[in-house]
Amino acid sequence: MKKLAVLSGAGVSKESGISTFRDSDGLWEQYPVEEVASIEGWYRNPALVLDFYNARRRDLRTRQPNEAHRIIAALEKDFEVTVITQNIDNLHEKAGSSRVIHLHGEITKARGENSPTPVYDIGYNDIHLGDKDSRGQQLRPYIVWFGEAVPMIEPAAEIVSECDILLVIGTSLAVYPAAGLVNYIRNGVPVYLVDPNPISIGYRYYTQIQDVATSGMRKFQTLVPELI
Ligand code: APR
Repeated sequence: MKKLAVLSGAGVSKESGISTFRDSDGLWEQYPVEEVASIEGWYRNPALVLDFYNARRRDLRTRQPNEAHRIIAALEKDFEVTVITQNIDNLHEKAGSSRVIHLHGEITKARGENSPTPVYDIGYNDIHLGDKDSRGQQLRPYIVWFGEAVPMIEPAAEIVSECDILLVIGTSLAVYPAAGLVNYIRNGVPVYLVDPNPISIGYRYYTQIQDVATSGMRKFQTLVPELI
């Protein structure tokens, strides 16, 4: 089976009712990113950061995968699929994707504030000041914040460097190192991009399906017979 790498961002979850970050109604229009999604923000005001993620986690409990998540999961019948997502939601897994790399962490998990392990599954429950890990450290969301290293970037780069097809969906490619993954593809590997807005992938040749995730993935599905 050919290897399909899927690099996804917030746009794939938009039709599930989850905000993106940089659209006009995006999260970073409502919250100062440096206060709620950076390691400095955590040191300055951990309660504000916990409230921000508690609200997003409670909201996620009410959200379901959309058809784009489901089509991406179904592509495992035709390809060896690995989803590399920047999203912290669990909708790819809920749709049935079996290999998902979360570059920026997972909102349904928690860790001690001074050590990335052990990791705790907390589902959709809140984290409060005073909640401690087994070492007595304050619990924080298992999220990679601005200013922190992205531990999964090397495995993700290896997946992209070995893929036969790259599908990029719902990401502005505004944030590194995630955005730099497109540069790891081998020459001649076809790149498809699903996004309603025109996105540039630099010098790389690619095909953009300029549409929202659900109908864009239905269009991608029609290409599968010539891709497998
Ligand atoms: N279907 C598909 N794509 C969509 C849709 C939709 N319905 N609506 C918007 N988009 C596209 C936008 O055009 C944009 O290109 O999704 C992309 C969303 O871009 P961002 O809001 O920047 O989200 P993302 O690329 O995932 O951000 C990357 O930035 O703040 C950090 O950690 C955060 O993981 C996030 C990272």
